[in-house]
Amino acid sequence: MSKVTLSVIKADVGGWVGHSGVHPALMERAKDCLEAAKGLLTDYYVASCGDDLNLVMTHALGVDSEAVHRLAWDTFVACTGVAKKLKLYGAGQDLLSDAFSGNVKGMGPGVAEMEFEERPSEPVIIFMADKTEPGAWNFPVFKIFADPFNTSGLVIDPKMHAGFRFEVHDLYENKKVLFSLPEEYYDILVLIGAAGHYTIKSVYSKSGDIASVSTTQRLNLMAGRYVGKDDPVLIVRAQSGLPAVGEVLEPFAHPHIVSGWMRGSHNGPLMPVSVADAHPTRFDGPPRVIALGFQLCEGRLLGPQDFFADPAFDRARSEALELADFFRRLGPFEPHRLPLDEMEYTTMPEVMKRLKDRFEDITD
Ligand code: 13P
Ligand code: 13P
Ligand code: MG
Ligand code: MG
Repeated sequence: MSKVTLSVIKADVGGWVGHSGVHPALMERAKDCLEAAKGLLTDYYVASCGDDLNLVMTHALGVDSEAVHRLAWDTFVACTGVAKKLKLYGAGQDLLSDAFSGNVKGMGPGVAEMEFEERPSEPVIIFMADKTEPGAWNFPVFKIFADPFNTSGLVIDPKMHAGFRFEVHDLYENKKVLFSLPEEYYDILVLIGAAGHYTIKSVYSKSGDIASVSTTQRLNLMAGRYVGKDDPVLIVRAQSGLPAVGEVLEPFAHPHIVSGWMRGSHNGPLMPVSVADAHPTRFDGPPRVIALGFQLCEGRLLGPQDFFADPAFDRARSEALELADFFRRLGPFEPHRLPLDEMEYTTMPEVMKRLKDRFEDITD
């Protein structure tokens, strides 16, 4: 049986207005680029969340395909041209290099890809977030695939009872480690609770089938500087031995706290929203997430279902707004503002330079 590859490659190549959205002209250009490459792809869908442009593509070329990565890169370059012409904000923001060199990984765009045999019915959910970082998925992915209070299938579905394997990445050391759950339930939590350092890259069934993958990339040394708050994407396959669609969505019924928000330097609640509401405003946020559901049919993308448009997530939104009020009242104080070494923006060196000669030893 032939395999299908689902690739989601995303970048911020210019915001409209500020960092709040993607201009329709960019969406159109992206669609034109992918349509022109229809010979390469089985199907495609262009989406946006906040100022991030997401290319959803299906094809038969496997993960890390140079042709598919080149197509995504060329599409982002073409969209950057449009963004520059329209003087959109931060045109070309995520394209860290001038030339494509075979794979977009490490060049700025985020990449989540999986190759699998399409099942008799193949529901997938693609989560896209803005104003946050890859570690934002640790909490929901753990709940989806490991928490029996979230996912009843772990307890009552014989096909899920064995648990799942989790590949965790150390973003600082560029190392990976595989955990088997539920056996190593407590061990994995020691690491993934530090979501800015350790992220869940992918999840596999115990029989080795890919179940989930995210745009987790190495933080350090990208563009020669600390680049941490890449607005992330997560792909999750659902049903028939994997968590049900509703179990995949359930962790978002209550917001958790993620880092990002204003200037990539603040903690705040991740608010689930509809596609129409995926435009961060208040303090450039709060950080938000959309969930697009697709049924695959011979590689074709039937959808999307805009899952968080549902009133069932209204309470999550109210809760997120209450938390946003709470955090905003703290202004420049932690834990709203990130610790000094994690901020994307800082005046610390400047301020310390000025204060250098004024520090005295404490002798009493
Ligand atoms: P600049 O206005 O200097 O780009 O920085 C602020 C920012 O982009 C956060 O919204
Ligand atoms: P993005 O990472 O979404 O471009 O946001 C940048 C920012 O500084 C928002 O305040
Ligand atoms: Mg931006
Ligand atoms: Mg963004």
